[in-house]
Amino acid sequence: MKYCICELNLPMIEPVIFAQDSTRKSLTFADNFKKYMDTTYSVFIETFGCQMNFSDSEIVASLMQQNDYSLVNNASEAHVIFLNTCSIRENAEQRIRGRLRELKALKKKNPDLIIGILGCMAERLKETLLKEEQMVDLIAGPDAYRSLPELISKATNGLRASDVQLSGIETYDDISPIRYDSNGIAAFISIMRGCQNFCSYCVVPYTRGKERSRNPETIIAEAQQLFDSGYRDITLLGQNVNSYAWMQEYNFSKLIEKVAQINPLLRVRFATSHPKDLSDELIMTIAKHENICRSIHLPLQSGSTAVLERMNRGYSREFYMNRIETIRKHIPDCGLSTDLISGFCGETEEDHQQTLSLIEWAGYDLAYLFAYSERPNTFAADNLNDDVPEEVKSRRLSELIKVQREISHRNNKLDIGTITEVLVEGNSKRSDEQLSGRNSRNKVVVFPRMNFKVGDYVKVKILSCTTATLIGEAI
Ligand code: SAH
Ligand code: SF4
Ligand code: F3S
Repeated sequence: MKYCICELNLPMIEPVIFAQDSTRKSLTFADNFKKYMDTTYSVFIETFGCQMNFSDSEIVASLMQQNDYSLVNNASEAHVIFLNTCSIRENAEQRIRGRLRELKALKKKNPDLIIGILGCMAERLKETLLKEEQMVDLIAGPDAYRSLPELISKATNGLRASDVQLSGIETYDDISPIRYDSNGIAAFISIMRGCQNFCSYCVVPYTRGKERSRNPETIIAEAQQLFDSGYRDITLLGQNVNSYAWMQEYNFSKLIEKVAQINPLLRVRFATSHPKDLSDELIMTIAKHENICRSIHLPLQSGSTAVLERMNRGYSREFYMNRIETIRKHIPDCGLSTDLISGFCGETEEDHQQTLSLIEWAGYDLAYLFAYSERPNTFAADNLNDDVPEEVKSRRLSELIKVQREISHRNNKLDIGTITEVLVEGNSKRSDEQLSGRNSRNKVVVFPRMNFKVGDYVKVKILSCTTATLIGEAI
C-alpha cells in the first residue's frame, strides 16, 4: 500500500491507469484525493463456505479498516462489495453466481460500485472468472488479501484487477481480526492455513495451497486477549488442525494445552481434525483438561475401506473405529460429529450399507451430509469415473439423513433428566424470554431467561428435546 505525502496518511490511488472498461472513466490523483476527502468509504463483506472463510473475512475487515474503510452491513450502502466465496461443491459456486446476478441491479444504479470476489472461487477460476462475470471488478485468492487496497485502486481506475498468488508462508498472524459478526462470547482463531492431504475429491489443496502453521505465541496472545475482553468459547481453526506443527517445539496437543491453561473459564474447541492425525497424545490432553470441550468433529467421509482408499483418506474403516474406541475409553462423555459424502466414484450398495452401519455404531450427535460433486482438476475428476447416478446419490443421501436424524434425536433423549453446564450465547431464536447456549458437548440448550445473561455459565436440567435442541430450566 502506498500513502500520499500529506499528513492525513490517506491511501493513495495510482494517478492515471488506462481504462480497460470504457464505461468507467480514469480518475486523476486529484479526483481520488477529493473522493477520499468527501466520503468515508465503506465495504460490505458477504461470506460463503466454511469457518475458515468466515475467519478470513474478519481479517479482510481488519485490513480494510486499516485502510480507512468502514464496515457496513447492507450491500446497498457500500462503495465496495466483497463476496468471500467457496468452491467445495458445484452448488456452492452456483449460489455465488446467483448472488452476483442479484447484485447487478446495484451495479447498474451505481457504476462506481466495486465488486470483488475473494476466496476459493477466485483462486480456483482465476482470470476465467473475470471473463465469465463481467460485473466483477477484482478477484483475490485467500493468500492475497494484503493487496486488496491496491486491487481496489486499480479497479477504481477501470482496470479489472486480480491477485491469486498462493503463498507458502502467509498466516496473517500480525493482523488482529475484527469480529464484526460476533456475540462477544464465541470466537474462532485461525491456527493454520492450507491443506496438502489431497483427498481425491477435494478442491481445497488447490484453492488454499500448502499447509502452514501460525506462530504459537501469536495464537496464545490472541486467545488471551479474547478471554480478557469477555470471550469464553474459542475454536482453534484449520483444515486439519491436528497436523499443526511449529518447529520442533509445538504440535497440536501442546498448543491446545497452552490455550486451555489461559483460564479454566475459557472453553476451547477445535475444527477440523483428520482421523489419520488424531493421536493418542491429543486424546489424553483433551481428557486431562476439563475446559477442552467434550466434542470432536471427526470427518469419516465413507464407512467403506475401498471407498476411503479411492478417496485417498489415508485410513481404513477399522483404523477410524479404533480412533473412536480410544476416544470413548479416555473421554467417555465425548460427543462426536462427522462429515460424509454419498455416491463417490464406484460406491456400491454394499459400500453404502457399510457407511450406514458405521453411523449407527459411532452414534454421532451431528453429521454434515453431502452428495458427491465432481470438482474439475481434482484427482477424482481426472482419474475416476463419477459413475453413481444422481438419483442414486440423492437416495443414499436421504437414507443417511434419515438414520442420522434418528440417532441425533435418540442421543438428545438420553440427556433428558440430566444436568448440564451451559455457556449462554444469546436469546433463543424463537423467543426473547428464552436464552440459548451450548454445553461442552456442543449441544444447543434453550431455557427460560430468569436473571441470567450472555456469558454466564448456567447449570440447566434437561426436560425435553427436539432432534437439534435440548430444552430445560436453570437449577
Ligand atoms: N478439512 C476438512 C473438510 C473440509 S471440506 C476435512 O478433511 O475433514 C468439508 C466437507 O465437505 C468435507 O469433509 C467433505 O465431506 C465435503 N466435501 C469436500 N469435497 C466434496 C465434494 N467434491 N463433493 C461433496 N462433498 C465434498
Ligand atoms: Fe479436503 Fe481432505 Fe484437505 Fe479436508 S483433508 S480439506 S477433505 S483435501
Ligand atoms: Fe469452501 Fe474454501 Fe472452505 S472451498 S469449504 S471456503 S476452504
